[in-house]
Amino acid sequence: MRYHVLTLFPEAFAGPVEHSMLGRAARRGLLSVQVTDIRSYTRDAHGTADDYQFGGGHGMVLKPEPIFEATEEALAAYPMTERGAVPVVLLSPQGRTLNQQLVLELAPAPGLVLICGHYAGVDERVRSHLATHDVSIGDYVLTGGELAAMVVIDAVSRFTPGVVGSAENVQEDSITSGLLQHPLYTRPAEFRGMDTPEVLRSGNHAEIDRWRRQESLRRTLARRPDLLETADLTAADREYLAGLGYSGRADGDSDNNSPRPAG
Ligand code: ADE
Repeated sequence: MRYHVLTLFPEAFAGPVEHSMLGRAARRGLLSVQVTDIRSYTRDAHGTADDYQFGGGHGMVLKPEPIFEATEEALAAYPMTERGAVPVVLLSPQGRTLNQQLVLELAPAPGLVLICGHYAGVDERVRSHLATHDVSIGDYVLTGGELAAMVVIDAVSRFTPGVVGSAENVQEDSITSGLLQHPLYTRPAEFRGMDTPEVLRSGNHAEIDRWRRQESLRRTLARRPDLLETADLTAADREYLAGLGYSGRADGDSDNNSPRPAG
């Protein structure tokens, strides 16, 4: 996967892209992140990338010309046949909220152009005539699209073969499977009086799988009952959920994300 990030703050990408799993993947040639300063596509001596809003109002607006030109240059790196398959993603709080479904839609592309908005926003023509996707990472407003672009890069890269340990990890992880992940434990078996479930140390893999599946179901019902509506559930899953009082509707306790004592 080739990422082309258009930003007013290219230096913001140095850390996340060079370190951790993404940095390792880039060094191994599994992905590349090309960061372009939008200002380098401005025409005036001051590198003016923004301007006042037509109609008045607080805040400056990112001008369309440098963003169009930088995007077109990024797309020119692809053969004609591939160009339409390269999503142009505008990061903005008005976009479609990022979730694993959207990550999976973006992951097969040969490249991604990520446009980071700033100030009051970008000229609407970028959204309507250049971007193929308008993406928000959540219902809150950031100072710019840079962190949002990094979130997209991180989440999408997990689906690039070789970036995370094994393809199996990615397919089975929380959310991709349609359910929240079961609890995880490691040594020591007992820590400050807090135990780990006996079954996980039993060596009985059928029992372990059953326990994990049921914990996933239990946690999903408690925290994200909406996910159960679309999850792939077996008859045994449904029977277990019925025993927990699940009626098939999203009516569980969805506000249960506070840490709880272990054990
Ligand atoms: N830019 C500012 N806020 C944002 C958000 N929530 N998601 C994506 N880009 C943004």
